[in-house]
Amino acid sequence: MIAGEPNGGNDQAANWRQNSKPCPDLHEAKTIAIASGKGGVGKSNVALNFSLELLNHGNKVLLFDLDIGMGNLDILLG
Ligand SMILES: Nc1ncnc2c1ncn2[C@@H]1O[C@H](COP(=O)(O)OP(=O)(O)O)[C@@H](O)[C@H]1O
Ligand SMILES: [Mg+2]
Repeated sequence: MIAGEPNGGNDQAANWRQNSKPCPDLHEAKTIAIASGKGGVGKSNVALNFSLELLNHGNKVLLFDLDIGMGNLDILLG
């Protein structure tokens, strides 16, 4: 117990923090948001086709559909 330290100095993530290594590609990661104030205008189609094109150019892509409840990327992807 260390007075003045958060949680009395008992850092439960200390081992994890010590063993985790930084991702070497992280500094190259980019975030692109495709948004609109209206549904059904083509965001998912644009996002998917843009992602496929990025893949064709050798990029790694992680695509999230944040349209909670109405997401349809799974359908577009078959
Ligand atoms: N460029 C386009 N031309 C014609 N129809 C389109 C086009 N883009 C999307 N659509 C159609 O519009 C509807 C909604 O597209 P979607 O990408 O799911 O929109 P959002 O993600 O903005 O809700 C779908 O039926 C889709 O087939
Ligand atoms: Mg959508």
